[in-house]
Amino acid sequence: MLKIAVFVSGRGSNLKAIINSIPHQLENVEISAVISDKKDCPALDYAEGLGIKTLFVSEKDPQSINYENLIQILCGLKTDLIVLAGFLKKIPDEMIENFPNKIINIHPALLPSFGGKGMYGMNVHKAVFENSCQISGPTVHFVDKIYDNGKIIAQKAVDISDVKTPDEIAERVLKIEHILLPFVIKKISENKISIKNNRVYIAE
Ligand code: GRF
Repeated sequence: MLKIAVFVSGRGSNLKAIINSIPHQLENVEISAVISDKKDCPALDYAEGLGIKTLFVSEKDPQSINYENLIQILCGLKTDLIVLAGFLKKIPDEMIENFPNKIINIHPALLPSFGGKGMYGMNVHKAVFENSCQISGPTVHFVDKIYDNGKIIAQKAVDISDVKTPDEIAERVLKIEHILLPFVIKKISENKISIKNNRVYIAE
């Protein structure tokens, strides 16, 4: 069983896509906790409503746990994989050191373009639109100490040549995110993802 912790900050549609994939596609995956830097975000409420363990992490809020506590809790839960599904805060270096190649993120553009600090949510889709890109699409990548910089695991190109607004790009890319993220988690659960010569390979 692959035990995953899902980190969220907002609406939680990717979290829902993972949860909905568990019965038929991700039978070997268990969500041990959902973690958020926002006490009241819809994603956290959704997980709570399903009886999943939820944690609120912050370095400032006295009602929260801090990252040091969080690392201990995640180790205690025997977490195999951390999935950033719309988590907006930068992951502290200490956490990355504790979970080497065990943290993945979904980004709503084709990295290495349109990534980095400030490139999240609609900022990404607006930039893609303004550059008149003809394709966009989600990227799932390993997380390292630099924003949106880790090795790319999987990407899917989406034709956006006929869109009229950034919102249309967001909508098209999101649909594919909901397929790509569960796909990568499944491959990790089957031990089918490897890194050789600095490149990521996914076995059939
Ligand atoms: C997604 O577009 C994801 O790629 C990005 O943040 C958004 C989160 O959406 N990192 P949701 O909360 O999963 O609906």
